Amino acid sequence: MTRSNSLLRVVGVEKHFGGLHALKGVDLSIEKGSIHGLIGPNGAGKTTLFNVITGLYKADQGEFYFEGMPYEPSSVAQVVKSGVARTFQNIRLFKNMTVLDNVKVGLHTQTHSGVWAALSQNLANRKEEANTIEKAQAWLDFVGLSGHANEPAHSLSYGDQRRLEIARALATNPKLLALDEPAAGMNASEKITLKALILKIQSSGVTVLLIEHDVKLVMGLCSSLSVLDEGRLICEGPPKEVQVNPKVIEAYLGLGSVPHVE
Ligand SMILES: Nc1ncnc2c1ncn2[C@@H]1O[C@H](COP(=O)(O)OP(=O)(O)OP(=O)(O)O)[C@@H](O)[C@H]1O
Ligand SMILES: [Mg+2]
Repeated sequence: MTRSNSLLRVVGVEKHFGGLHALKGVDLSIEKGSIHGLIGPNGAGKTTLFNVITGLYKADQGEFYFEGMPYEPSSVAQVVKSGVARTFQNIRLFKNMTVLDNVKVGLHTQTHSGVWAALSQNLANRKEEANTIEKAQAWLDFVGLSGHANEPAHSLSYGDQRRLEIARALATNPKLLALDEPAAGMNASEKITLKALILKIQSSGVTVLLIEHDVKLVMGLCSSLSVLDEGRLICEGPPKEVQVNPKVIEAYLGLGSVPHVE
């Protein structure tokens, strides 16, 4: 049975890397329209779960449902087509391309001409290209980067590069946006801007799955959390319940940062 309001549901996901058992029967259900947090200590398996959901790694076992229908994250292209987009813990931009062109790459998953043809000077379909540029600019505006459109991506600050990745992911028109530590490397004011952006994304109708170590950000944004520890789901529920769960406290003990906010 699938929960009617769940956008993505995964059941019993297993992943091994050689002798390392990275995901141990993990279940996850993300409610449509929500901001769902995925937390846990370093090495817990958070990024691995993202990689499995977004077609980068193949799960050894597990069932996947998207909008109640069986979902096959067999390739990145298939995943994008299904309506799932992501950003990466280690930023993956085309660093020497302009900010605008990075977003155009995301948009060209939606158009008929291929990415490289569209980026070249000899365009068969200039109308489509003009339309693409307009949309890319609108996404830059959405994330607050419109003033940087013609700069090379590598010239952006770390925080702005993360927002550019978000714009590129949004340009694929996803139903689910998965963000892997979007606040990493950001200063306090950048985090405030990011929080507002994530809320704006939710308001636009996109469901958000968020991996984040910044507890204040996670607790302030997420309506529900899943906690992984050593490849296992140890707790799920609303933030207030999760932060007092003994298993969660134990998982974080010794790390000096039990996830708690006043
Ligand atoms: N491609 C890979 N090959 C081998 N081992 C891997 C691979 N990817 C991840 N692992 C291992 O799987 C485990 C889970 O890693 P993962 O990156 O998913 O953790 P994480 O929860 O995202 O941690 P962090 O908070 O540090 O990003 C770790 O032991 C990691 O070393
Ligand atoms: Mg990770």
